[in-house]
Amino acid sequence: MNTVNKMAEVISIISGKGGVGKTTLTANLADALSKKGKSTLVIDANISGANMGIHLNMLESGADLNSVLSGKDTYDKAIYAHPYGFHVMPSSINVAGPSMHGFSAVISNLVGHYDYILVDTAAGTDDEVKEAVKASDSVLIVTNPDIPAVSNAALVKRLTANLGKPIKGVVLNMARGEYLELTDKQVSEFMDADVISKIPFHKNVKQSTVFGKSVIDYSPRCPPSIAISSLAGRLCGEEPKNSNFLSSLASKIPGLNR
Ligand SMILES: Nc1ncnc2c1ncn2[C@@H]1O[C@H](COP(=O)(O)OP(=O)(O)O)[C@@H](O)[C@H]1O
Ligand SMILES: [Mg+2]
Repeated sequence: MNTVNKMAEVISIISGKGGVGKTTLTANLADALSKKGKSTLVIDANISGANMGIHLNMLESGADLNSVLSGKDTYDKAIYAHPYGFHVMPSSINVAGPSMHGFSAVISNLVGHYDYILVDTAAGTDDEVKEAVKASDSVLIVTNPDIPAVSNAALVKRLTANLGKPIKGVVLNMARGEYLELTDKQVSEFMDADVISKIPFHKNVKQSTVFGKSVIDYSPRCPPSIAISSLAGRLCGEEPKNSNFLSSLASKIPGLNR
């Protein structure tokens, strides 16, 4: 664990429906943030269906979030260094539970050691997710651009609002550009929240998981890798490259900006 005294920003990655790409996004954001020099911890808080270890090719059999929450291990024993440079607190892939009770206390021990703590959650609005959101500074809501996913995403938005936590934005994942697919504008109007990233559907994402790699490492130039890296930049407060370019272009066209 890093010894420098920091104050991590804790972000939960949540969704209404399962399978929308939360775990994939969390793992890849961690990689992208560490490539930007940010010390990052990923916590698999999906204690009822953990699979971050599979995405990250890290199937540890020692201490994990479950054993920390049940009081069997101290939190420092459950943190593992990933070869990509970030840290991971996994959950057990064969023990469900016990419950997320005590998660905020775990987080409070960790915030002083990282720039970012990313919390991967279960889908939906059950207590398991509530405890993760309560322990976080803000959330990213992941959805696919279809009506069932967005309709359930609205429920996690309401949960977040009820807990008094801000929403960093909505991430539209697996966008295929198909006829009748919901647009950013439709999703943002329905959710009354900004769509801050649109990640295309791409076969390399699934392939990267099979190889236990991040898609950013497996295929750095493919569109999902570019979108996730730019989302990481946005989380770090970087201006999107296009917006700088466009404003400088606009200033060179007299009469454009009245
Ligand atoms: N942008 C994408 N393009 C293609 N496949 C994706 C994309 N994002 C996620 N997937 C795939 O979708 C499946 C579900 O993703 P996962 O991250 O496990 O969802 P969740 O954590 O929300 O249940 C995985 O097989 C993953 O590889
Ligand atoms: Mg998941």
